[in-house]
Amino acid sequence: MIPFLDLHAQYRSVGKDIEAAVVDVLRSGEYVLGPQVTAFEREFAAHCGAREAIAVSSGTAALHLALVAAGIGPGDEVITVPMTFVATVAAVLYAGATPVLVDIDPGTWTMDPVEVEAAITPRTKAIMPVHLHGRLADMGAIVALARRHGLLVIEDAAQAHGAERDGKRAGTFGDIGCFSFYPGKNLGACGEAGAVVTDRADLADAVRLLRDWGQAAKYEHVRLGFNLRMDNVQGAALRVKLRKLDEWTQKRRDVAALYRELLEGSGLTLPAPAGHDHVFHVYAVRTKERDALRPALTAAGIGTGIHYPKPVHLQPGYASLGYGPGAFPESELMGLQTLSLPIFPEMTSDQVREVAAAVRRFSEGARDAA
Ligand SMILES: Cc1ncc(COP(=O)(O)O)c(C=O)c1O
Repeated sequence: MIPFLDLHAQYRSVGKDIEAAVVDVLRSGEYVLGPQVTAFEREFAAHCGAREAIAVSSGTAALHLALVAAGIGPGDEVITVPMTFVATVAAVLYAGATPVLVDIDPGTWTMDPVEVEAAITPRTKAIMPVHLHGRLADMGAIVALARRHGLLVIEDAAQAHGAERDGKRAGTFGDIGCFSFYPGKNLGACGEAGAVVTDRADLADAVRLLRDWGQAAKYEHVRLGFNLRMDNVQGAALRVKLRKLDEWTQKRRDVAALYRELLEGSGLTLPAPAGHDHVFHVYAVRTKERDALRPALTAAGIGTGIHYPKPVHLQPGYASLGYGPGAFPESELMGLQTLSLPIFPEMTSDQVREVAAAVRRFSEGARDAA
């Protein structure tokens, strides 16, 4: 059995250190925000190459607070993609603004800058690219477009901790970057957690205020705020794991490189090669046979995922956005074709070979049947 993701293996490698750090927090009596969170903010900002990091309670909170801090609200439009986890679009709605969706580029599977340009209106305030699966979107084109039109760039970097291009890391290309530390993420907490990173002191101050009830000082509520703070326990656990992140990212890239070597020519469309701009949160392949390949892999004892089967605009909970089937053909096609193979830093090359062999057996069988 090869699981899609093995958090037990990760825990075996860092569990002792996490337990010691968490026990210290439990004994300290400081549970919400606190010194571990403050230290994690400093260390995570340094890892990203950002001036400031503000720790919050989830990736969704990071997106929501980034939007509110940027002054985005009712009447404003925010351009983002439907091929993402729903949180990206939900955050825009939480802020009271209007999500305007654009399709992905079939080559990169991320936001198509040409589509963005066509969607800009006088009400557009921000562009929210998503670094899907851990691969940076086309930030050069997107940031240039935003600057030309006076728009903010808010990166959904929930899947892309440490992805790098031209010496810059995910979250620092635009005005503000949003991270999730959901347990299965490349940097995962022992519960819910997230962070915002930015070089802009005004945005950092606003997020800090908003996450903690709009309090400038105890019981001084200078604006309407939220309770979206990070727990000190999560700060402690994340500090331990952050020390391993670069090593884990390299291991993910090694797994991806081996998959590429073993699966090239198998008839599947493979993700981009393992460069610095991809941290392989997900190793997604594409094939028209996805709905047959997945059960074949399950039968072979191999766990898989689909990221994501149904783009946001086709989710019943988002029907009020007013887009129907056919609105975003590339995202819809990807939803039908994409399959995520197991990937995690502790995955052995034998496990990668076993997955690749099962995929190849299926592809050859499908070819023989055709
Ligand atoms: C692209 C994307 N955006 C936002 C989120 C939301 O993060 P969280 O689950 O920490 O709220 C996630 C993670 O689930 C995600 O994958």
